[in-house]
Amino acid sequence: MEKREHAKIEIEQLSRELLKHQDLYYKEAQPLISDLEYDRMIDRLKTLEERYPELRAVDSPTLRVGSDLNSEFPEVPHTVMMLSLDKTYTTAGILEWIEKSNKRVGHPLTYIVEEKIDGVSLVLYYEQGILSRAVTRGNGIVGNDITTNAKTIGTIPLKLPQPLNIAVRGEVFLPLEQFETLNRNLETPFANPRNLAAGTLRRLKSSETAKVPLRMLSYELFFTNPEEGPQSHLERLRLLKELGFYVNESYGLFATNSALAKDLTSGKGESGAYEAIEKYVEIHSTRREHLSYEIDGLVVKVNELAEREFLGYTGHHPRWAIAYKFEAPEAETVVEAIDVQVGRTGRITPVARVKPVKVGNSVVSNVTLHNQDYINLLELALQDRVSISKRGDVIPAVERVIEKNEAGFKTWQIPQKCPTCGTPLVERGAHTFCPNTQCPDQVKGRIVFFAGRNQMDIEGFGPETVNFLYDNHFIDDIPHLYTFDYLQLVGEEGFGEKKCSALAEAIEASKKRPFRSVLVALGIADFGKKGIDLLVDSGIKTVHRLFELVDSNNRDYFLAIKGLGEKSVDSLFEYLLDKEFRDRIEALIEAGLTFEEEESGEEYEPLFSNQVWCVTGSFEAFNPRSLALKEIEKRGGRTTSSVTSKTTHLLAGVGGGSKLQQAQSLGVTIVDEEQFIRLLEEK
Ligand code: IVH
Repeated sequence: MEKREHAKIEIEQLSRELLKHQDLYYKEAQPLISDLEYDRMIDRLKTLEERYPELRAVDSPTLRVGSDLNSEFPEVPHTVMMLSLDKTYTTAGILEWIEKSNKRVGHPLTYIVEEKIDGVSLVLYYEQGILSRAVTRGNGIVGNDITTNAKTIGTIPLKLPQPLNIAVRGEVFLPLEQFETLNRNLETPFANPRNLAAGTLRRLKSSETAKVPLRMLSYELFFTNPEEGPQSHLERLRLLKELGFYVNESYGLFATNSALAKDLTSGKGESGAYEAIEKYVEIHSTRREHLSYEIDGLVVKVNELAEREFLGYTGHHPRWAIAYKFEAPEAETVVEAIDVQVGRTGRITPVARVKPVKVGNSVVSNVTLHNQDYINLLELALQDRVSISKRGDVIPAVERVIEKNEAGFKTWQIPQKCPTCGTPLVERGAHTFCPNTQCPDQVKGRIVFFAGRNQMDIEGFGPETVNFLYDNHFIDDIPHLYTFDYLQLVGEEGFGEKKCSALAEAIEASKKRPFRSVLVALGIADFGKKGIDLLVDSGIKTVHRLFELVDSNNRDYFLAIKGLGEKSVDSLFEYLLDKEFRDRIEALIEAGLTFEEEESGEEYEPLFSNQVWCVTGSFEAFNPRSLALKEIEKRGGRTTSSVTSKTTHLLAGVGGGSKLQQAQSLGVTIVDEEQFIRLLEEK
């Protein structure tokens, strides 16, 4: 008993001390003690709390250091609306919107202009003044509960000085300087601070989140009881600050006349008449470059809360706020060359090789030019000086030509002949194609696709091996994969006995891949996984049935399938009536691949419905990886081959690589094999 009493006193003392130092560190950026000393105190407190868990305070300083235990991010519904913002790109747009809003409510309102922080939106829920939940935006209706990770963020209060029931919305971000230092040491750097912040917020171990100095700026305060609390935004911002939140002090208040605005701000900070917004926007657009964090615009908000409610909401945004967005980041460079790539379907894609240039926060050296129309529109020629933008912050694009080349190069034209096989190219719709299905680039592309992870998933047949096998005339097309004697390669550079047997085994194993995977792997345009599922689920359980329907020209059968359009059906017929394609299938039937759907008979809970999963790395229990994909699909999940903004979960095995990075950067929930198995067992 005595011991526990002592511990209690020591815990309280340490907590008090540490909280003080954390405040100095996070809020004032002026630490008084060394990191070593701080760590020692934290370690001691951790030890005591482990011994007497009941003595741990809800706002214990140890929460800031996180834990090494894996946490999950269950989906939880929002109780405040997580809407987005309407936007404009001009000051005139802002002034028009103000006029419209004033008209709607019938009298002039006051407006606050804030910085639009380029970070990750988060809502903090407090019950009786204690942080109970931190939830990501998600789809606006449900988000992920990332409380344990959020608790490691120094600028998020764990306990308020008053027992309030509130929700606070704000933006989690990483200051630029810290971003640059951290990113420098990463093998695959993040494109921008926002992506790094998003990835960090979703680390499974909160101790990992704690290592990154994320911050949160809070900008909206909601009371569970709407009548409670101050009735203007300005006062709410002040209250947020009093409650210990980190609030952006850089804002301006605007009213019908400057005296009124000045009065409301008590002369502190920036204020003015509506017209002064123009100047304010101009100043803040330039100031942006000198800020220690990234902003992508400004947000103009109605100050009076009652009028906010009167103005209301659309399904997408509140009518009481509008974002003024800065134009996407741009940079100038020179087009050094334009190459064309030949895809597996023969489609030609021109790609500009530009002198590497930093756009926003990433370096761009290749820019896709899509097709000839796109190039014509830009009137783009070699050695032109161009402006590169990153629209939507991901895909770099040539925005416009700034200065024509002096060498006299004219608008660049896609060559008449395929640069790889010399066949005259043809136009189909907006795109140019190499019509030679035996064009080496096409053959190699189609073999690589066939063997790819989300098709037949044949280990070892990546682009490098396939190029080698094709270029050295070992394999001439897909069916050859199944007749070639891989042991013949022993002795070729890089091909040991072990590797060759592995290739042979992988090929053998692929014969057991399900019917659906085989069909997807054949690469019929417009028939990815979704399209093939529609076909098989409609009752086409064997390839012979498919042949029958096509050979009897039964287009109606296909058009009756919900989800298949005219265009897809055309494509299906074109492929299946093509002799070369048909021969390829016959050869694969001969080789013993699966061309019939197996009945499973089992029923599963739709655990993963509305989720989009991607799978990366290798697994113990799911070998080949396609077994894991099957488990997801059986439970109603969708699976995709790459991590995109739509992906909700990444199942990461050993050696996840770039997908893992991508998932982290997009803030996708990452699940390891063990967690996955536990999920499956949840019936
Ligand atoms: S107010 C209901 N204020 O911008 C309206 N949003 O493009 C709540 N953002 O999803 C938004 N800084 O994540 C507001 N000062 C600020 C903001 C801000 C950044 C983000 C927010 C929103 C996105 C819309």
